[in-house]
Amino acid sequence: MLDARTAPPVVPQEIRREDYRAPDWLVPAIELDFDLAAEKTLVTARLSVERNGEHDRPLRLDGDEIVPLAVLVDGAEARWTMDGATLVVELSENAAVVETRVALAPDRNSKLMGLYASGGLLCTQCEAEGFRRITFFPDRPDVLSRYRVRMSADKARFPVLLANGNPVETGDGEDGSHWAVWEDPFPKPSYLFALVAGDLAVNSDPFTTMSGRSVELGIWVREGDLPRTDHAMESLKQSMRWDEETYGREYDLDRFNIVAVDDFNFGAMENKGLNIFNSRYILAAPETASDADYDAIATVVAHEYFHNWSGDRVTCRDWFQLSLKEGFTVFRDQGFSAAIGSAAVERIEQVKSLRAGQFPEDAGPLAHPVRPDSYIEISNFYTATVYNKGAELIRMMHTILGPEAFRAGSDLYFERHDGQAVTCEDFVRAMEDASGADLRQFRLWYSQAGTPRVLARLEQDGAGATLHLAQTVPATPGQTDKKPMLIPLRVALIGERSGAELATERLILLDGEQSSVRFDDVGEPAFLSINRGFSAPVIVTAERRAGEIEALAVSDQDPFARFEAMQELMSRDLLAAIYGGAVETGATVAAIRSTLASNALDPAFKALAISLPTEAELAEKVDPVDPAAIHAAREAFRVAIGEALADDLEAAYAGAAADPDSLDSLAKGQRRLRAATLGLIAAGNPERGTELARRQFAEARTMSDRQAAMMALGTVGGDAWDEALDAFYRRFAGDPLVIDKWFSLQASAPRAETLDAVEALEKHPDFNLANPNRVRSLAGAYAMSPFAFHRADGRGYDWLARMIVAVDRVNPQTAARFVAPLGRWKRYEPVRSEKMRAALERIMAEPSLSKDVLEQVSKSLA
Ligand code: PHE
Ligand code: ZN
Repeated sequence: MLDARTAPPVVPQEIRREDYRAPDWLVPAIELDFDLAAEKTLVTARLSVERNGEHDRPLRLDGDEIVPLAVLVDGAEARWTMDGATLVVELSENAAVVETRVALAPDRNSKLMGLYASGGLLCTQCEAEGFRRITFFPDRPDVLSRYRVRMSADKARFPVLLANGNPVETGDGEDGSHWAVWEDPFPKPSYLFALVAGDLAVNSDPFTTMSGRSVELGIWVREGDLPRTDHAMESLKQSMRWDEETYGREYDLDRFNIVAVDDFNFGAMENKGLNIFNSRYILAAPETASDADYDAIATVVAHEYFHNWSGDRVTCRDWFQLSLKEGFTVFRDQGFSAAIGSAAVERIEQVKSLRAGQFPEDAGPLAHPVRPDSYIEISNFYTATVYNKGAELIRMMHTILGPEAFRAGSDLYFERHDGQAVTCEDFVRAMEDASGADLRQFRLWYSQAGTPRVLARLEQDGAGATLHLAQTVPATPGQTDKKPMLIPLRVALIGERSGAELATERLILLDGEQSSVRFDDVGEPAFLSINRGFSAPVIVTAERRAGEIEALAVSDQDPFARFEAMQELMSRDLLAAIYGGAVETGATVAAIRSTLASNALDPAFKALAISLPTEAELAEKVDPVDPAAIHAAREAFRVAIGEALADDLEAAYAGAAADPDSLDSLAKGQRRLRAATLGLIAAGNPERGTELARRQFAEARTMSDRQAAMMALGTVGGDAWDEALDAFYRRFAGDPLVIDKWFSLQASAPRAETLDAVEALEKHPDFNLANPNRVRSLAGAYAMSPFAFHRADGRGYDWLARMIVAVDRVNPQTAARFVAPLGRWKRYEPVRSEKMRAALERIMAEPSLSKDVLEQVSKSLA
């Protein structure tokens, strides 16, 4: 007989979308009573249940690591059994009040799902299936209930008691305890339940909605963090106004509360009226937060707020529909960020992050459709595909329908489905019904995984030009046979002599495997500007004429297309070098020189345009991947550019000195341009780069300047780097968000010695396996640093595999997120590939892995 240690791990049962069935029992109302303490919390739940349709099935209540202390039906001892973790209650009537009681130990809940302790607070995280760790309940998003929540706790330790909705009563109890009752008038699924208890201070501000209702906004943090909440508050008010103006959505409760916690599995959570945030997406001061942090805070605050409609008022029928709320809400937060910042820069960044996170996912073993067909552990499906590709799907509908029809579709969607739990199909149907558009073929974007590839060839003749297009959708796990998609491509032809757009830009809807589109009246030789604004999330390969891409890189009027041409130009020459050709930087040098010299471009755009494709982006374009060859070619390229453009870069660096007290787009863009030019200066002349970086570090008044200087020093290494690290640590010791940066700066330095630093940091007293931010700042940053991680000796893989196993014992959700970098093993050259696979095998051989890690590793090995 096999013992448990050598038996092959059993991969748990898959849940399939096609098995969806409406719930057997509904729970229109629930009363929860919490007797809160960190070591032991008692939860009493009274569920008003109703039989849904005609059947004689029992009530099944999900549970996870909880045991019933009592089960009563209409006040009397009930007939109940356990089926695994599920509580099964026999009910003879069609309606009943079912009461259960459980005891929790929040201070031992290291998974950070359910009720847990974080820095002296008690807080909850329920999405997706955390509510079942708090009480027995049909924990699925299509069961909507009205919640009444009573909390009691020691008043000195937990002076603030918050839950969803509005406060209705408070009072003092015996022995220094106090209590509060909150009621949420809006029926909601259990994943949106939240409570917080703790010693918190509040930044509060009133907001008047478009219909004149007054809302009290509150951002709750530790007392000492209050000065760092103003940016989040400002962002919240801007989001509320923007959602009224852009989508006609108004806030609906008297209170809107946000709480910041230090231990959190994701970015933030949209619980109705009580958002809970990872503190990194709330707290900001110029000294401690970079410009990128400020922007991320605005985006995440907006994202969670927008969920109040796209997620809370209209929610998901089941977890396969996750992109219904996430794709749409990401699209909404992207629109907000574009409106408050530079639309062009925002779009470029969105595409960069899609390419960094989603394209690799779509091309690897974990590829799945935006609406998945099956899962083992739903937490593994909070992915770049569901979020970011999902947002691209919404954007394509916006492009195809146009802004007015899209808005009409959104209005119809909210009106038709308010208070319901619905599907992606319902969203698309609302768009069709409001606009009259036919989106039948478009729906394939929800069901087919993989990034479509489009080949484009422009053929010119005397009278005009013909654009020949062809598409293919690559095979992905479980999907070998793909149908052609509906691909909206914004296209313009640009005159080779005039540099002007010949006729107006067209929106081409490519719907077949091949298609040809005619352009008349093209009076001069033309260049092809295609997929402008990144109108479709596809990989376009265009046949280019000599000089075409060089010209587009400095002249395309569409900022995204111009950025893209620059990337295409640099990729072309970098790939030649990666494959062993000469390092030919002439075209890039000319394009960067002209970009830097332009008076029309803003500094943020310049910074993005002159940045080389990352090593990870280049890895997507070669087969097999040899990270050392990519790194060597790219470094040689950077050195050559830095040398050739030394004077231009120095001038641009000096000319981009920003006002350190300003956070406006100009100042942020200038800091960014300084960072980009500093990196290239240091590549061309390490001594000069070190000198400038040292000075920038010493004089820095913003975190952006400090961080950029550190990055330049980290690439070169040496004493200046060590000194900067020490100074940084001494200055910010005790500030966890900044110490996270200190960890990740070291873990992502693109040098061979980085692994030694990573191993030392793992033993640093500030390293903490139980804090997801800290784990990400070490393991996440290291695994995302291609050259340092992909060592030929495989030690990087061994380190990560060990870390995954260690984190899995504490927090499976966080551990599972680190599997993907190893999972791409099939793409790598044989030596690394084999070592990556072996590292996965070693994880797989560990006894008692979580479902989370098991799913990701077994799919990666398949
Ligand atoms: N729903 C959250 C968001 O997108 C993400 C999240 C998922 C947070 C699961 C916690 C747990 O905003
Ligand atoms: Zn979201």
